[in-house]
Amino acid sequence: LLLGRVFSGIQPTGVPHLGNYLGALGNWVSLQNQYSSVLYSIVDLHSITQPQDPKLLRTNILDMVASLLACGIDPRRAVLFQQSQVSEHAELSWILGCLTSMPRLRHLPQWKMKSKQKNEGSVGLYTYPVLQAADILLYKSTHVPVGEDQVQHLELAQDLARIFNHRFGDLFPEPRALLSSTRKIKSLREPSAKMSKSDPQTMATVFLTDSPDDVALKIRRSVTDFTSEVTFDPENRPGVSNLVSIHAAMATISVEEAVSQATGLDTGAYKQLVTEAVVQRLTPIRLQVERLRSDPAHLEHVLAQGASRARELAAPVLEEVKQRVGF
Ligand code: ADP
Ligand code: NA
Repeated sequence: LLLGRVFSGIQPTGVPHLGNYLGALGNWVSLQNQYSSVLYSIVDLHSITQPQDPKLLRTNILDMVASLLACGIDPRRAVLFQQSQVSEHAELSWILGCLTSMPRLRHLPQWKMKSKQKNEGSVGLYTYPVLQAADILLYKSTHVPVGEDQVQHLELAQDLARIFNHRFGDLFPEPRALLSSTRKIKSLREPSAKMSKSDPQTMATVFLTDSPDDVALKIRRSVTDFTSEVTFDPENRPGVSNLVSIHAAMATISVEEAVSQATGLDTGAYKQLVTEAVVQRLTPIRLQVERLRSDPAHLEHVLAQGASRARELAAPVLEEVKQRVGF
């Protein structure tokens, strides 16, 4: 086992899609077996930076726990918990917020993007990178698996660790990024964009609980091009190449192997092959999500146990922070 503490969070957006699975969650499952200490948080405090329906939020939290367990997150190897159940996150966030300048946040790309979409964003949306820093530093985390879109937020966590250590004496290690090496999965309808839960187009996104028929239909309708031969050329042939990426990742074979399996197939026939690879990999996950969803009491129990283990780690760190600050 590697020494170090891994922390990562995911918003409770309900059942994850193929992009989340291949870009993040699959890696989470490997990391829990590689590092001596691993924490995964369902970051519900981050979810309310934009308006949420309370009932749906509750369902989405439980669907996310069920999905994480079904994907192979093992609560014996990783502390799996709901962020809002560990109040130390919010407390540390306040303290770190007092060490963060306004301009430092104003230039972060997600604020620029989301506040523009909403005309005016909430204070929570503005400061949520500080909460992210608190999520990480609260456990003195050393490694943080992130997508490229989150690198600047991790840099804020690194800055805040440095600023705190400088002002109050060494306490936090500077957390390092574990960048996911997998290629971004693209929308099935618009292969220049990434696959996303918020894609308004139906048929663009494959969710982990999609039935085999839904998967087949979405892949059959996916946008390719007018060349029938299958090649891997993301620049010029993003649609077909996305299918090759999905096929390779789901069948755990190389891109070269995936292309060679497509020899002699036109894109229509290849789509069936890709569908088989996706359905084969997703079927056990889908069935497990369904089983777990039918027992919310069990899911709540998993979360309660995770929260109590997380709190055991968080409380002494926050206590130390408070003393250093002079409380
Ligand atoms: P979404 O774009 O659907 O809102 P999130 O932003 O909530 O997804 O991402 C959750 C995690 O999944 C992040 O680690 C992100 O990097 C990863 N992820 C999201 N979409 C993709 C994708 N299309 N391909 C690869 N990874 C993705
Ligand atoms: Na997003």
